[in-house]
Amino acid sequence: MIELLLDFPDGRSCPVLVGSGASAELASQIPDRARRVAVVTQEGIPVQVETDRETQVFLIGQGEKYKTMSTVEELCSQFANWGLTRNDVVVGVGGGLVTDVAGFAASVYHRGIDVVHVATTLLGQIDAAIGGKTGVNLAQGKNLVGTYWQPSAVICDTALLGSLPEREWKCGLGELAKYHWLGGGTLDALALDERVAACVRIKAQIVASDERESGQRALLNYGHTLAHALEVDGDHKLRHGEAVAIGLVYAAELALLMGRIDAAEVEEHRRVVQGYGLETGLPQDCDIDRLMGLMGRDKKVLESGYTFVLLGEAGVEVVRGVDPTLMRQAFDSMRSTA
Ligand code: GLY
Repeated sequence: MIELLLDFPDGRSCPVLVGSGASAELASQIPDRARRVAVVTQEGIPVQVETDRETQVFLIGQGEKYKTMSTVEELCSQFANWGLTRNDVVVGVGGGLVTDVAGFAASVYHRGIDVVHVATTLLGQIDAAIGGKTGVNLAQGKNLVGTYWQPSAVICDTALLGSLPEREWKCGLGELAKYHWLGGGTLDALALDERVAACVRIKAQIVASDERESGQRALLNYGHTLAHALEVDGDHKLRHGEAVAIGLVYAAELALLMGRIDAAEVEEHRRVVQGYGLETGLPQDCDIDRLMGLMGRDKKVLESGYTFVLLGEAGVEVVRGVDPTLMRQAFDSMRSTA
């Protein structure tokens, strides 16, 4: 078992346990003062939650259409009907959707109660469950309403990853690929537990230095500007990690055109992404004009113009005011190497 600690400058900390069978450690992570444990999960998630407190399971629906304010309202009403108090704890067991919704419900119920996450997908373990972002979607866009609410512990049971559907696994690998350029180096050479732990370590370090994304935390969005646009343009036929994989290669092509990196580095992006069995080319039917429009409206954009996380000599950094002509040329480069 690998035990990591996400340490915040103000003294708060969040243990993260990574390893095969780590979910057996859940009982030890329930805060002492909790008398009741509200487990939020979905049908079919293969984790038996064992605690030594009074425990009740609350199921939420499958799919983004359930990542809503009404699901959170429903959960909070069920918590209230059961008598959950502010000393009790919510445990989110599942992928990113579950931990985002469970974390949000915990953060607003009685103005905030403890939450522990048991992340069951690769994407959840290396990203969604770490760092305290919670949220739900609005008709206007993904994750537009949410809170920062740090879990009191996170459990990443790598034994659960063996039974992930192929597409869900690949989705996690797309997100994992980005860590190669966030200090991960040759992540692909590590065993699975070590690889998950290495990503958690990188994310923990970034989040601890910038919990509310006023600077460094935005670097975690490497590859995401195009990825979010591709997801919307294709009506979510591409899964998030698949879109991030393509977004990483696009960000490299753009950085090359801006003279920030050389062609060998672009090839390295392709090698890593393809090494994880992911596509590097644009979907045949994507609409470049629409993608340009969507990238201009990305949630990370704080002022007019296009904003990207791009690689350069000093590593990745946020670059504002990117020239749209170069962005279009980067699409041409993607098409010509497809
Ligand atoms: N998924 C990006 C972040 O947690 O900041």
